[in-house]
Amino acid sequence: MFAQTSFFAVLATVVSAVVLPRAADTTVTLVNNCGYQVDPAAYPAVTYNGAATGGFPLAGGASASVTLPANYSGRIWGRTGCDADGNCETGQCFQGGENCTSPAPTGPTLAQFTINGYASSDYFTPTGQGNFNIPLTITPGSGCSTAPVTCTDANGDGNGCGATSSCPTGTSYTIQFC
Ligand SMILES: *[C@@H]1O[C@H](CO)[C@@H](O)[C@H](O)[C@H]1NC(C)=O
Ligand SMILES: *[C@@H]1O[C@H](CO)[C@@H](O)[C@H](O)[C@H]1NC(C)=O
Repeated sequence: MFAQTSFFAVLATVVSAVVLPRAADTTVTLVNNCGYQVDPAAYPAVTYNGAATGGFPLAGGASASVTLPANYSGRIWGRTGCDADGNCETGQCFQGGENCTSPAPTGPTLAQFTINGYASSDYFTPTGQGNFNIPLTITPGSGCSTAPVTCTDANGDGNGCGATSSCPTGTSYTIQFC
C-alpha cells in the first residue's frame, strides 16, 4: 500500500511537471553604462535577489539581474541623482522612496514590456520622445533575432524610440542605461 501510494505520488509529480509546466519567468539584465549611479525602477514590481522590488540603486558600471513574473506587463526606467531615500532628480516615484509602488512618472525614458502577449510573443518598446532622461537600449538574448532597439535622446533619435518590437516568449533581455 505504501509503495503503491508513493508510486502514484511520483507519477502525479512527473505528469504535472510534463503536462503543466509553470510559465517561465523572464530574465532581464540591467546594465548601468552611465558613469554614475542609476536607480532602476519597475512598476509593477519585479523580482530581485528573491524579493519583489520596485527599485534599487545600481552603481555606475554595475549590472543586476531581475526577473519579470509570467505575463508581466509594465515599465522599467532609470532614475538619476537619487539619494538613499529615493529622492531623485529624474524619474522619481510618485509616492517617493526607493521602492516604486506606483506607475512611472512622466519624464524618464521607459522600457515597456508585455510578456507572453498576442501569439505567444513578448512586446517591448523603448519610449523616449517627450519622456526622456537617459539613453536606453533593449537587447534581446539568444533565441530571438530581433536587433537591439535604442532611444538615444529627447528628439526621438535611435532606431527604437516609441517603436514596438517582439520576440518569442522565453527570450531574455538586457536593458542598458546610457
Ligand atoms: C516593494 O513593494 C512591493 C510592492 O510593489 C512589495 O511587494 C515589496 O515587498 C516591497 N519591497 C521592499 C524591499 O520594501
Ligand atoms: C499567462 O498567460 C497564459 C496565456 O494567456 C495563460 O495560459 C497562463 O495561465 C498565464 N499565466 C499566469 C501565471 O498568469
